[in-house]
Amino acid sequence: MNFNVAEFERSFGSFSQLGESDLPEICFSGRSNVGKSSLINKVLGRKSIARVSSKPGKTVTINFYKLDKARLVDLPGYGYAKVAFAEKERWSELMEGYFNSGRNIKMVFQLIDMRHKPSEFDISMLSFLKEMNYPFSVILTKSDKLNKTEREERLNKIRFELGDFAEECKIIPFSALNSEGVEEIRGIIESCAI
Ligand code: GTP
Ligand code: MG
Repeated sequence: MNFNVAEFERSFGSFSQLGESDLPEICFSGRSNVGKSSLINKVLGRKSIARVSSKPGKTVTINFYKLDKARLVDLPGYGYAKVAFAEKERWSELMEGYFNSGRNIKMVFQLIDMRHKPSEFDISMLSFLKEMNYPFSVILTKSDKLNKTEREERLNKIRFELGDFAEECKIIPFSALNSEGVEEIRGIIESCAI
């Protein structure tokens, strides 16, 4: 599969605008600032096809990136405290609409900052995916920010913190800085593509 031929396709701010689902979709979910957009850039080998920001809440729409045999889907981040109630409602409607409309969702990568314990939101997201029967994998982002001891410690603890979810999915450390994990993620995407 050629990851270099990706193109940004469209952004959707409301569920009613979502187009037809004619390719397998691979999604990236996680709290604001966890590194979803950075990961998409890395996987596609592009500097800034997806907008990255040091301020949380950069991606507030569902963004589609089209490859020849699949679509990558950058989902809007959650858990950013300063977001207004109306905005949170819009987020919920958009996400529920997306996941409930019979799309060909082949994999959901759930991103969690490798330095931190999964949040309540992360766990709710995993429960939701499991309930909906969507295949998921966990990606531990920003692995470059940990030293060797911290890394070992987090890798041990995360299994426990994820409980049953850890038994059902892969856990992949990733860094957008040094490219750790990128080939493994590309491999999973390829196995989901048509
Ligand atoms: P929203 O669009 O707000 O949901 O955020 P996002 O999950 O798309 O995060 P984004 O990719 O915009 O990255 C947020 C910040 O984290 C930026 O300042 C990135 O440069 C930084 N960042 C992302 N990935 C990594 C990583 O692997 N290592 C390090 N050190 N920083 C990273
Ligand atoms: Mg983003």
